[in-house]
Amino acid sequence: MTLALPDDRMDQVLLTEEQLSDAVARLGREIAGDYTGRDLVLVTVLKGGAVFLADLCRAVELPVTLDFMAVSSYGPQVQDAVRITKDLDDAIEGRDVLMVEDIIDTGLTLNYLLRVIRQRQPASLAVCTLLDKDARRLVDLPIEYRGFAVPDRFVVGYGLDLDGLWRNLPYVATLKDDIWETWQ
Ligand code: IMP
Repeated sequence: MTLALPDDRMDQVLLTEEQLSDAVARLGREIAGDYTGRDLVLVTVLKGGAVFLADLCRAVELPVTLDFMAVSSYGPQVQDAVRITKDLDDAIEGRDVLMVEDIIDTGLTLNYLLRVIRQRQPASLAVCTLLDKDARRLVDLPIEYRGFAVPDRFVVGYGLDLDGLWRNLPYVATLKDDIWETWQ
């Protein structure tokens, strides 16, 4: 069945609602298997990660806590420094931290956050990303849990936005190339 896309700037559905929920269930099982008996906190970066985290945390059948960070970039270039605009609410020293990301693109944002979090001496620190746009990676990052490898296209939906829009789409769609090129 072909879904009617809500905007003509979108190209096609890349991941359907069913593919996303299958991946969330699989990742939830893997995480629950690996963290049984541990003190797990799931951390995501607002706003994009909130949709994935909301589904993922319900697929991890373990007692977990949730925490949130927010960041902004100092400038428009990917190399520009990242600034934390909302820090974690809780201390993480001695706890098992899993960073939950909607997408890893260049990896620079997550690389910075992992450094900050590591300094707080968690018992362990790992990464779960729904989407991995690995063709654009500028830094090497360990990714323990991955939903999908995605091509070098701009995607929206399921938390991901263009100028704040389309985070609430239940699927992930690619944008048309000319829209993506003007965004870069
Ligand atoms: P980074 O390049 O890995 O540091 O990614 C930074 C952020 O850019 C991600 O967390 C997303 O918020 C955003 N981003 C990267 N690629 C896309 C995309 O295809 N769609 C929407 N947002 C994206």
